[in-house]
Amino acid sequence: MAEIGKDIKKAVSLLSTGKLVAIPTETVYGLAGNALNLEAVTSIFEVKQRPSFDPLIVHIADVAQAKLYVNNFPGDLEMLAKKFWPGPLTLLLPKLDIIPDMVTSGLPQVALRVPAHPLTRQLLQALSFPLAAPSANPFGYISPTLPEHVNAQLGNSIDYILDGGACNVGIESTIIGMEDDELCIYRLGGISKEEIESFTGKSVLIKSGSADTPLAPGQLKSHYAPDKKLILGNIEEWLVHVDPKEVAILSFSKKFDAVETSRQIQLSAKEDLHEAAQKLFSALRELDHMPVKQILAEPVPDVGLGRAINDRLRRAAAEKKQSS
Ligand code: TXA
Ligand code: MG
Repeated sequence: MAEIGKDIKKAVSLLSTGKLVAIPTETVYGLAGNALNLEAVTSIFEVKQRPSFDPLIVHIADVAQAKLYVNNFPGDLEMLAKKFWPGPLTLLLPKLDIIPDMVTSGLPQVALRVPAHPLTRQLLQALSFPLAAPSANPFGYISPTLPEHVNAQLGNSIDYILDGGACNVGIESTIIGMEDDELCIYRLGGISKEEIESFTGKSVLIKSGSADTPLAPGQLKSHYAPDKKLILGNIEEWLVHVDPKEVAILSFSKKFDAVETSRQIQLSAKEDLHEAAQKLFSALRELDHMPVKQILAEPVPDVGLGRAINDRLRRAAAEKKQSS
């Protein structure tokens, strides 16, 4: 198992020698390595068992650092950076050669973000290189929002987990870029479409639909998925078709009499989407470990953060392909 602690110096020294460290962010924990070091980047793909076509997000300390790695920063994206960084927003920008092709899976753009967690901000300020960091889970499984989640799955492959407690956003960053002067969201996440639209005064296209061979593999149909079968729909109706003793429930706020309370999780009793996002991935893990055959889940209201939550639920419910 990996050591869990708050020692930034230790993290700096491991990362500076090409080793990987799990880091807290406000969204989910990341599996971090020096983005400019090919050995470190290779280990990230190996430890995560991530296919090489799925590029990595590069984490930096501030807008000034971002400029060291891109050859153009379109005005609209720079405004978004200044408004939402540090925070759960990732920008796709044309990369300079200093970012290895392996990081972007050969794509001409690099995904950059300034995370908001204070420990990781301190870490990034102490380093002389940026950190490539995908979510710290095996490819396709549920993202980690606690150090213990990371340890349970990747603890044998890494030495150190920087302990930042529970992630307070709970779902990954929103990925946004530009196509022909239009803002496009490639992955729904911690900053909502509505927030971006009201700040920019422009409408934003959502291009994060399901795909088996996506541009941004956060678009993969099956992702963020528990091992157990998850059925997404009207829980009340599904309960008629299944044995209530063999299911667990993930609802937005409701409780269901037919199923034992210990096998039900409500994402937010007060129907707050921020709280629901915060709890989503831990709830999925907990349900995945219950002695049941299936998880019944329902979508949350499809507005604001709710869109990103529903996106995760749909992918968690999608049939897995053998290869993922
Ligand atoms: O909140 C987050 O973004 C977390 C924390 C750790 O920062 N990171 C994260 O990384 O979710 P990951 O690797 O699990 O998801 C990154 C997504 C993938 O779907 C990937 O395909 C997309 O970002 N991506 C990365 N670089 C890209 C690029 N150059 N072009 C298009 N998509 C890219
Ligand atoms: Mg991920």
